Amino acid sequence: MSAKKKPARKSDYSAIPVDALSAAQAASELERLSREITKHDLAYHAKDAPLVPDAEYDALKRRNEALERLFPLLRRADSPSAKVGAPAAAGFGKIRHEVPMLSLDNAFGEADVREFGQRIRRFLDMEGGEIAFSAEPKIDGLSISLAYEKGVFVRGATRGDGEEGEDVTANLKTIGEIPKKLAGTPPARIEVRGEIYMTRADFLAMNKAQEKDGEKVFANPRNAAAGSLRQLDWTITAKRPLRFFAYALGVYEGPAIETQSDLLKRLKGWGFVVNPRAKRCKDVDALVAYYAEIGRERPELPYDIDGVVYKVDRFDLQKRLGFVARSPRWAIAHKFPAEQAQTRLNAIVIQVGRTGALTPVAELEPVNVGGVMVSRATLHNEDEIQRKDVRAGDTVIVQRAGDVIPQIVASLPDRRPANAKPFRFPTHCPECGSIAVRPEGEAIRRCTGGLTCPAQAVERLRHFVSRGALDIEGLGEKNIEELFTLGWVKKPGDLFRLARHRAELEKREGWGEKSVERLLAAIEARRKPALDRLIFGLGIRQVGEATARLLAVHYGSFAGWRAAMEKAQAELAAFDGEKRKPELVGDAWKELVAIDQIGDSMAVDIAGFFAEKHNREALDDLASEVDVADFEKPKNVNAAVAGKTIVFTGSLETMSRDEAKAGALALGAKVAGSVSKKTDLVVAGPGAGSKLADAQKLGIDVIDEAAWRKLAGLDS
Ligand code: IVH
Repeated sequence: MSAKKKPARKSDYSAIPVDALSAAQAASELERLSREITKHDLAYHAKDAPLVPDAEYDALKRRNEALERLFPLLRRADSPSAKVGAPAAAGFGKIRHEVPMLSLDNAFGEADVREFGQRIRRFLDMEGGEIAFSAEPKIDGLSISLAYEKGVFVRGATRGDGEEGEDVTANLKTIGEIPKKLAGTPPARIEVRGEIYMTRADFLAMNKAQEKDGEKVFANPRNAAAGSLRQLDWTITAKRPLRFFAYALGVYEGPAIETQSDLLKRLKGWGFVVNPRAKRCKDVDALVAYYAEIGRERPELPYDIDGVVYKVDRFDLQKRLGFVARSPRWAIAHKFPAEQAQTRLNAIVIQVGRTGALTPVAELEPVNVGGVMVSRATLHNEDEIQRKDVRAGDTVIVQRAGDVIPQIVASLPDRRPANAKPFRFPTHCPECGSIAVRPEGEAIRRCTGGLTCPAQAVERLRHFVSRGALDIEGLGEKNIEELFTLGWVKKPGDLFRLARHRAELEKREGWGEKSVERLLAAIEARRKPALDRLIFGLGIRQVGEATARLLAVHYGSFAGWRAAMEKAQAELAAFDGEKRKPELVGDAWKELVAIDQIGDSMAVDIAGFFAEKHNREALDDLASEVDVADFEKPKNVNAAVAGKTIVFTGSLETMSRDEAKAGALALGAKVAGSVSKKTDLVVAGPGAGSKLADAQKLGIDVIDEAAWRKLAGLDS
């Protein structure tokens, strides 16, 4: 929780007695109270986590009622006094995962797999040796987490955003392959994770029955499994042929388990179904052979798989490897190659992205590519269209690999209609008419309209609410576009004022009371966003989830980050022009580029974001609506290193430098790439050069690897 109170807004009348307010002030107060009370209702009822003591909540309610009595005409459509309790939690209850549920990085070919193996050996400083893996089919279903206490199934949740999922306990109890009681000697507490799926045969039979009854039919077994599990009425789930493969652990309190292969055996012993094709592979060559073997068997398997998963077998090594952003370093999904199909390309249209990039998209005659209907595919950029000479009217080969956007592989010139003309890439934005420029040496042409370009504004909003950012459900492309066109949501802060349009929105086609309710609740639930998610959500060029996290770790609070970025921007601007030498700019700039893995080019983009007035205004506006949570320090923070800025230099003996850095970050430290006055500690190994010299010059503490291991608690 942020310790600081938000600065008083210009229109803060909360301290003025009710009967001393003007009508305009009263209206503003009623709005604030409605917002506040709704927020507390939601926290209390839907999340079981009140934000304030009851007395404080009651005072808000009383003030609201008093105002409504004095100004009856100002009573709001969404008046909190009209509500009984809180809105029913939209759908399922939420369950916070004690151990987050992560996703996997993808490998698309043998080279990626070898690189994965190398990366791991490098990280563990085991370059000479071999590392064994557990290789398993990657089931195309949905992952869930099952909690058992003293051997009894107590709770189950979907993955959700990885941090918090939906409580689907009642539904899971209807699935035969999920044990309600564990066999053998169960551990005190365990969370078993795995995949819910449907076999192809069951899927086809179910769809047939659904069709006969005039019910919804599903596109593929994955969707059918997800749709069947997420039923508010568990008796419907009970009728669906769902199955479960167990493959991972969440929380675990029991006798030690050393490896993934061992875990799979134990899971079987406790009564779970584990995939019979899982196999321990002694090295990367064995993984490559396994992939080929499963690829051959794939058509005969009774269920859909979209690849295989490789996991470092030893849990102690997994622990050392840890995570990057939301995926583990110790596992990867090796996807099966793309599937291809032929179809007609009807038109090439230009899409304008969040950063103004003009992307050509092929509109296709819909075609089934490996079980999924595809009607659009990306053409990447103008050079690509030229190189492949793709024209409207052409017959083209489309390919789809896993969850990536379908692509056009080639066009078939001998099947080209006589009148097909080469595509002329536009020089102006098709959405706003601004000039679109393509800088020397770049492949991408960009609209120069900035936020005056509706397409860019809409894309930025979409990014803001997307999964890795604020993760607000119920705001797809169509909805955002509609809200934008209506003028209700032009910038992120507007989302948090959408409740003002509740009544009008409910009346609009395709909305209705329920969906508006759900959306507003989803928005309200995000009034206290995590700092890293918020930074990512701003859609600054080059700032992905991992970079956003680095910034959040480093600066800690929204206000702190923002002030530092504005300062860095001002410093950069003062040095702008021909002779710009970023490294000479100033302290804030130096601090930014000193963060490990943040380079000049990225820093220029970050500063560039703050150079734009409309961005700063949008941030001010957003800050008046939300209360950004300070970055949550990792749970196992180590007082000796938390908050300290550490530089690693030279070679280390018991671990790689990457492992050392990741370990420091996990303990709440900041890792910098170069030594400055702000450095607290330098860990130097043999061969350390200029950084060590810098540290000595500046009088910064220098320790060796053994001392670092002790400090970081690695040897206790
Ligand atoms: S392990 C941290 N093993 O793939 C690692 N995942 O792309 C967690 N999946 O969310 C996942 N089969 O839904 C693992 N044998 C398997 C899997 C598997 C399918 C899914 C799972 C996960 C997704 C990641």
